[in-house]
Amino acid sequence: MAELGHEVLGVDVDKNKLARLEAGEVPFYEPGLEEVLKRNLAAGRLSFTTSYRQAAEFADVHFIGVGTPQKKGEFAADLRYVDSVVESLAPLLTRPTVVFGKSTVPVGTAQRLAHRMRELAPAGQAVDLAWNPEFLREGYAVQDTLQPDRLVVGIDHQCPGRAEEAAREVYAQLIEDGAPFLVTDLATSELVKTSANAFLATKISFINAMAEVCEAAGADVTVLADAIGHDARIGRRFLNAGIGFGGGCLPKDIRAFMARAGELGADQALTFLREVDNINMRRRTRMVEVVRSAVGGSLLGTRIAILGAAFKPDSDDVRDSPALNIAGQVQLQGASVTVYDPQAIETSRQLFPTLEYATSTIEASQGADAVVVLTEWDEFRKLHPSDLNDFVRNRRIIDGRNCLSPNTWASAGWEYRGLGRPPIRANTEHLRPESQTGVSSVTG
Ligand code: UGA
Repeated sequence: MAELGHEVLGVDVDKNKLARLEAGEVPFYEPGLEEVLKRNLAAGRLSFTTSYRQAAEFADVHFIGVGTPQKKGEFAADLRYVDSVVESLAPLLTRPTVVFGKSTVPVGTAQRLAHRMRELAPAGQAVDLAWNPEFLREGYAVQDTLQPDRLVVGIDHQCPGRAEEAAREVYAQLIEDGAPFLVTDLATSELVKTSANAFLATKISFINAMAEVCEAAGADVTVLADAIGHDARIGRRFLNAGIGFGGGCLPKDIRAFMARAGELGADQALTFLREVDNINMRRRTRMVEVVRSAVGGSLLGTRIAILGAAFKPDSDDVRDSPALNIAGQVQLQGASVTVYDPQAIETSRQLFPTLEYATSTIEASQGADAVVVLTEWDEFRKLHPSDLNDFVRNRRIIDGRNCLSPNTWASAGWEYRGLGRPPIRANTEHLRPESQTGVSSVTG
């Protein structure tokens, strides 16, 4: 918002976080965000506070962007943080104000909050609540915010108020730059967000289901994805088979969506999402099996290097990370596991203190019986067998994200295994000085 030229006050209950932000330090890893933060602090457009009173006095437009995690032991979303913002802010709103919700919430929440807001606010009907879902991806947050592929604003059609006008004003530059601007009712805007994430999760689980079939049939899911992806109706994006989706959004969002559909009596419509979830969780178990079988059937006493802990590259987020989950399972089966990630070591250590962590790929790979890539950081994509040849005990590479070139590894004498594609035995023929054989890989 500050980058778009607005005067912004950020509110948080965590004083430590605010102190770091005030010092120009982003409290998590997100490419490009620190520059934006520093630029706008320096321009005097951005400041921070813990005080709702100060926020209410300062702003005409408020955005609610707090988390909606999964409830403990249930599929439903925990709305306590969103509710708490409304309960704290509304009683302080004494003049006409527009409040936009950005958090991902179960359909029906915005309508409930709109009533509550007006009930609590001294300004009453002069307070408008609208919903403006967020579609940014971690790792691309700055780009997705400043060049969004769409803006969606859900308006309370019973009392439309000033919300649409305020959204057009706030996002004027993005609309001028050509971002599609869609105005909907409150329920539709909430559903746009959850259905988008449900679709993305379904696409990933679809290709991972194909990976299971490919594994059974001896086919290659990466080639299959390329081939079907050429069909513009299908598209290649989000068809990367591997260890599946994790993070703070897709897993909990599809579960909250199923829970909400159940409450609305529409549970049958979303039973397929249970299968989407099941396919996704099976990938983690499958990966552990692949590692175990690669090292000869038992992990006991083996050394496994795990490259990648974040749920995706360019992020230090390890919430529901398939990589960390797999690292933990491999360790539980008796392997000595060392994890390296370019950014997510600290966050991993907090969540999983019992794993060993290294500060580089080479340190993690010392004496390894298998090197396992679980997050497709550029640094790992660019790895060359010669970087690791002298450090590992056994030349086995297992590619949980299908992000490496099997032939490069096999022709350097490594055994390569991906997910949903046939294993490739090490090709050492050409490595022998007397050999005249060209480089070729033996599959099967
Ligand atoms: C996701 C959505 O993509 C955003 O549009 C949405 O705004 C966000 O959730 C949210 O609800 O806030 P994000 O969680 O940052 O964004 O990550 P994604 O890029 O969607 O990736 C999610 C997971 O799927 C990662 O673990 C990734 O490795 C995995 N994935 C992705 C695959 O396994 N295969 C693919 O082809 C693509």
